Amino acid sequence: MQKALDYARQHFAAFLDELIALLAIPSVSTDTAYAGDVARAAQWLADHLAALGAQGAHAVPTDGHPVVVGEYYAAEDRPTILIYGHYDVQPPDPLDLWESPPFDPVIRDGALYARGASDDKGQLFMWMKALEAYVKTYGTPPINMKFILEGEEECGSTHLPPFIQARKDTLAADVVLISDTALFAPGVPSITCGLRGMSYVEVTLTGPNRDLHSGVYGGAIENPINALAKLIADLHDADHRVTIEGFYDDVRPLTEEERSEISRLPFDGCAWAAEVGVTHMRAETGYSPLEGTTARPTLDCNGIWGGYIGEGAKTVLPSKASAKISMRLVPDQDPEDIVHRIRAHFETHTPLTMHVHVKAVHGAVPVLVNTQSPAMEAAAVALEQVYGQRPHFTRIGGSIPVVADFRRLMGLDSVLMGFGLDTDAIHSPNEHFGIDRFEQGIESIIRFMALYGSEG
Ligand code: BES
Ligand code: MN
Ligand code: MN
Repeated sequence: MQKALDYARQHFAAFLDELIALLAIPSVSTDTAYAGDVARAAQWLADHLAALGAQGAHAVPTDGHPVVVGEYYAAEDRPTILIYGHYDVQPPDPLDLWESPPFDPVIRDGALYARGASDDKGQLFMWMKALEAYVKTYGTPPINMKFILEGEEECGSTHLPPFIQARKDTLAADVVLISDTALFAPGVPSITCGLRGMSYVEVTLTGPNRDLHSGVYGGAIENPINALAKLIADLHDADHRVTIEGFYDDVRPLTEEERSEISRLPFDGCAWAAEVGVTHMRAETGYSPLEGTTARPTLDCNGIWGGYIGEGAKTVLPSKASAKISMRLVPDQDPEDIVHRIRAHFETHTPLTMHVHVKAVHGAVPVLVNTQSPAMEAAAVALEQVYGQRPHFTRIGGSIPVVADFRRLMGLDSVLMGFGLDTDAIHSPNEHFGIDRFEQGIESIIRFMALYGSEG
């Protein structure tokens, strides 16, 4: 292992330059205007894997964006890991808030700034560099490695489950390894043991059949924006609980042990909120902020539109109003069931003055992963060697849809060993990834590979 660690240290500057080239490709998956760039990023990764000597490295077309696969076979008696990452990124908007252009990566104050630097190109690339370090020094990694790199994670992973289903045999592995989450805090390692799920809907209220003069009709024709605003406001009660009928029915209650584990985490809620400019937090009554963001289900309106939003004033009583709403789910809530419930809720509560339409956009099943496995133990020891302390097992509030799919379709558990930080501004302007964490991540992965390889 030592030679691989030395190689990574000696070639770190080149690794960064390569990552910068990958980050310069604007692989925004949700916007079809970028489809060519998404394909280019996929090909870049496939070529990179092939150059490392991976077999069968190629970008496989799907009905959506390509999936990059490739594998490095070490030996029959070694365990096999399936490495998942996503090379697509969130849209960079709002562009004017970036201090440097999102696809013109720059190093500033010890961090690499670019869309995707932390989520997830910077993190998935660490696995390739760890492989390279082994191949260039020992001629082979100590474990068999298969890669599956997705281009649709940020828009719901629609085409990935059928892709996995169709290739179960070639993807067969002992465990899935994913670096797409965060450390608990700077210098405080963690392994993610739970992810929230998701139900995402778009709701549209239609009142009159066309936009109206608000002076001629206002007073007797109800305004869809007014009505939608009320419906959305009523989705939470005074305890900040979600009011959708049956929303909490399938929520597995937190055990006292889980709650005390969460309360022991080194979390300073006030400082955490202050960093985003907020002085007062708002959690569900009876739950701590950390429980609220990781272990309880939530509902957030993500966008709302309708009427006139141009310059000046226009006295319009609009025909329509819409909103995008996401709900983060916890075990054992079912994303489809929750969509039915929110649809029923809107149908029941929409005033007779208008029609409502609820469209399901995408979903993800919440998961808690098995923390007792040889791969988990190898990851924990590797992180302890690098950070000087045993990692915490933490639930996170975000979602990675494929984790539940790997379990459902292949019976595989995932080890979520992430090196981001909440302050990396993922999905926001000025996303960045600390150079130190890129280096620590590669070292942790090399150590993980050595430890897990000696298990087999
Ligand atoms: N890497 C994130 C998940 C994540 C978020 C990990 C926060 C750690 C902290 C992932 O790329 C992501 O953004 N997922 C989406 C999934 C959704 C589109 C189904 C999310 O959580 O919103
Ligand atoms: Mn991600
Ligand atoms: Mn993301």
